[in-house]
Amino acid sequence: MVATPGAQGGEQGWSSRMAFILAAVGAAVGLGNIWRFPTLVGENGGGAFVLFYLGCVLLIGMPLMLSEFVVGRAGKSDAVQSASRVAERSGVSRRWRVFGGIEILAGFLILSFYSVVAGWVIYYVWLSGGDFLSNALAGEPFRGAFPDIGQDAVSGMMGALFESPVRLILVHAAFMAVTVWIVASGVHDGIEKAATWLMPAFFALLVCITIYGAFTGDFGRALAFLFTPDFSKLTPPVMNEALGQAFFSLSLGAGGLITYGAYVAKDVNLAPTAATISLTDTAVALVAGLMIFPIVLGVGLDPSAGPALIFQSLPVAFQTMPAGSLIGLLFFILIFFAALTSSISLLEGPTAWAIDRFGLRRPVAAMLLGLLAFLIGVACALGYNVWADVRPLGFWGIFAETDILDTLDGFTGKIMLPLAGLLLAIFVGWKADRRLIEAESGLSGGAFALWRFVVAWLCPAAVSLILLFGLFPGLLTG
Ligand code: TRP
Repeated sequence: MVATPGAQGGEQGWSSRMAFILAAVGAAVGLGNIWRFPTLVGENGGGAFVLFYLGCVLLIGMPLMLSEFVVGRAGKSDAVQSASRVAERSGVSRRWRVFGGIEILAGFLILSFYSVVAGWVIYYVWLSGGDFLSNALAGEPFRGAFPDIGQDAVSGMMGALFESPVRLILVHAAFMAVTVWIVASGVHDGIEKAATWLMPAFFALLVCITIYGAFTGDFGRALAFLFTPDFSKLTPPVMNEALGQAFFSLSLGAGGLITYGAYVAKDVNLAPTAATISLTDTAVALVAGLMIFPIVLGVGLDPSAGPALIFQSLPVAFQTMPAGSLIGLLFFILIFFAALTSSISLLEGPTAWAIDRFGLRRPVAAMLLGLLAFLIGVACALGYNVWADVRPLGFWGIFAETDILDTLDGFTGKIMLPLAGLLLAIFVGWKADRRLIEAESGLSGGAFALWRFVVAWLCPAAVSLILLFGLFPGLLTG
């Protein structure tokens, strides 16, 4: 018999409900909240996107998160094996495990580009750390960021990084190495420990910088920008984007949560836990918007700058703001913590699978998979310089213009995650044994009936419609 993470979960499962919540919130809260969400809101015109996103989280994301936990804890193994066991115990074909396979592949692919973006964060921690230090040594720790160089030089930092394959690959390697090290250390001694240290620090920083932004930036305009809906912007591709973002931000459809669910003790009530995690993640995305947009709008910069919002606009804003050098440093440390607790969940899904499937030891599995994901990430990094003209899915209209990293991001987020979610919903809503699911979910009576109804009917219908019209917008316009 091959060792299963279920068996390891026995020694290595979460030590408490709180540890599980912190690890899962850590998985959910990441670049998705602080880099991707504000970027998408900015590009897609604010309030209408936010409203639609909230609908996706409440009606699709939250019920599916509970479904992932239920499958994981019932199967007590990695995503594929858990799905397979639940299928077997429900008397349906073990082929249903295919959604577990899609999830693990999606998680692995996301990890590869996630680490590249997290590498940019490390680069900015390095830059702003040096800047703060030199200010502090000059006896002026509360100066603006980068006081001695012009605004063009500051906004040019991102371009300089992107032009250099060596720098991009070095910081990407550094981030992946830390991720591998934590996952290799185990569920209890690695993942849980990281989450219990990093998440409280993250929340403290988030609160401080948001208060700072509210006082020094333009909070009123940020509120208006985030919450004034312009429904003409809400086209089917934008809806697809919002749905994909909900999956991405909640960490749905990529194996991580099934795997984390397998390490949860039997006495933890999963339904309120899934609700807590989804709502916390959503609150963090909104607060991140309220942290970033007042600062960007306060100095009159463009809120729809796309991915450059964080790496170009913010550093420029920090240049003229009080204590900008210190706040800039803290800001990038905050993103780094958030990214790290997420990337470990992305690696844990495939790692648990490899331990199960091939009987590998945990450190070996984590290292091999980390190395493979690193190599794919190298291709993403080269996509900004030597391979700048490469369009991997250029033949497909919606990906015609996207570089390597954006193609991986779009393909996983817009297609793989929702597809896995669709299959998961059909499986839990229709195929899995009702009593088994009910017992695991922690719901009963009307609440259980409502949840299963949403998973069986609403989730598949909504996800298929959004996928169909999002991927083939021509269907609507003829
Ligand atoms: N949710 C994380 C974020 O918002 C990213 C992430 C971690 C993820 N695990 C995942 C995304 C699993 C999809 C699937 O940054």
